[in-house]
Amino acid sequence: MSEPAASRPPRRLVLGVSGSIAAYKSAEIVRLLQKAGVEVHCILTRAGAEFITPLTLGTLSGQPVTTGMFDEVTGGIRHIQVTRESDLLLVAPASGNILGKVAHGIADDALSTAIMASSAPVVFAPAMNTRMWESAAVKANVRLLEERGFLFVTPGTGSLACGEMGTGRMADPAEVVAFVLRQLGTEGRGRRLLVTAGRTEEDLDPVRFLTNRSSGRMGFAVAEAARDRGYAVTVVAGTTSVEPPLGVEVVRVRSAAEMARAVAARHEEHEIVVMTAAVADYRPRHVEPRKIPGRQRRLTLDLEPTEDVLASLRGKRAGKVTIGFALETEAEMEGARRKLETKGADCIVLNNPTRPGSAFGGETNEVTLLFAVGRTEVLPLSTKRRVAEEILRHAEEILAEKCTAGSASGPPVRRGGKTAVRPARRSGRGRTR
Ligand code: CTP
Repeated sequence: MSEPAASRPPRRLVLGVSGSIAAYKSAEIVRLLQKAGVEVHCILTRAGAEFITPLTLGTLSGQPVTTGMFDEVTGGIRHIQVTRESDLLLVAPASGNILGKVAHGIADDALSTAIMASSAPVVFAPAMNTRMWESAAVKANVRLLEERGFLFVTPGTGSLACGEMGTGRMADPAEVVAFVLRQLGTEGRGRRLLVTAGRTEEDLDPVRFLTNRSSGRMGFAVAEAARDRGYAVTVVAGTTSVEPPLGVEVVRVRSAAEMARAVAARHEEHEIVVMTAAVADYRPRHVEPRKIPGRQRRLTLDLEPTEDVLASLRGKRAGKVTIGFALETEAEMEGARRKLETKGADCIVLNNPTRPGSAFGGETNEVTLLFAVGRTEVLPLSTKRRVAEEILRHAEEILAEKCTAGSASGPPVRRGGKTAVRPARRSGRGRTR
C-alpha cells in the first residue's frame, strides 16, 4: 500500500462504522489509511459498537472516537466539527439501516447527522446479508443515493458470515482504501494517465521465449502514485513479478507487438503517458510451430526489430506529456540523451540497474531526469514510489506549461465521468462541494 507523500498536504477523513460483522475490517481500513498519510476520525454507531470497541478504533487512529450525538469538543458538537474539517466521509461497513436512513433524510445518531451535515464526498462500502442486499428496499435506496451523488464500493460475492453464499460481503480493506485515495487525490482529478509496465515476451517456439528481468515494480509504483493523485489510470502491463495496484484498469499483453497495439488504441484519451516497460528490441522472425530440438551443435536465431512503442507516439502528442525510461549500463547520459532526441519524449528517466540500490525487482531506484527543454535533474536514491511521485510532479508541470503555451483552454479535462477501475467501481458522480 501507499507510503505517505511528504509533498502532499495532510488529508483528513471521517470513517463511519455501522452495525455489521464486517466492522472488524474497519480496524484494517484505519491502519491502511494512516499508512497513506490520511488522518482518520471515527464515528461508531451503537450497533457498530457491538462488533468493535471505541478503544480499538481510538488506539489505531490516535484520535477520539465519536459514539454519541452529543459528544462535545471545545467550540461545538464533535461529529459536526470533524465532518466540517474533513475531505471525505467513508462509511465502512455500511449497513442496510444506515443506507436507508441517509436515503430518507433521517438523522437520529452521530453518523447519520454527520452525513447529512457534510458537504464532502461520501463513500459507502456496504456489507450485509445477500437477501438484504438484494431486497427491493435496499436496491431502491442505493439507486436513490447514487442519483444524489453518493459513491459506492460495491460488495463482493462469496460465503458470508451468516453461512450463506451470495453478494453482500464488504469489499476488502485494501480495495476500499484504494478507492478512497483516488477520490482524495486532487492533482490528477479529471485527468487520465497511461503507463506501460513489466517485460514483454517474444516466442521462439511453443515452450520458449525471449524476455528480460523487469519486475513491473516501477510501472506499478507510477500507477499507484497516479491513482492516489486522483488520475484515472490505465496500465498496459506485460509479464510482471508483482501484482498491480487496486483501483486501476489493467490491460495485459505479452509481446512488444501486443503492447504497441494496446498503447496505440488507448494513448489518445490520456493526457500523460509514462513508458516504464522493458520492451524486447528483437523478436524471432519466425515462431517455430514445434519445439526446437535441443542438443544441436549450433543454433542461430534469426531476429527482427520489434515496434518501438514510445517512438511510435512521435507527432501524436500535441498538448500531452510523454515520459520514457532509459536503461543504461555505460555511457549513461549519452544513451539517455540519444533516446530523448530519437524517441521525441518530453522527459527521459535514466536508470542503471547495475548501480547499488537500483537492481531489477528492487524497492528503490536512483534516477536522473533529462528534459526535452535541456535541463537535467538528479534524484537521490529513493523508493520507487517516491521516484514515481517526482516523475508525476514533473509531468504535471510540463502539462501545465503546454496548456498555457498551446491554448487558453488546454487539453480537455474530464470531470465526473464514469471510469472503469479494477475491481472497485465508481458508481455515480462525485458530489460537488
Ligand atoms: N521502448 C519502447 N519500445 C521498444 C523499446 C523501448 O517503447 N521496442 C521504450 C521503453 O519503454 C523506454 C524507452 O523506450 O521508455 C527506452 O527503452 P530502453 O530499453 O532503455 O532503450 P531501447 O530503445 O531498447 O534502446 P537500447 O536497448 O539500445 O538501449
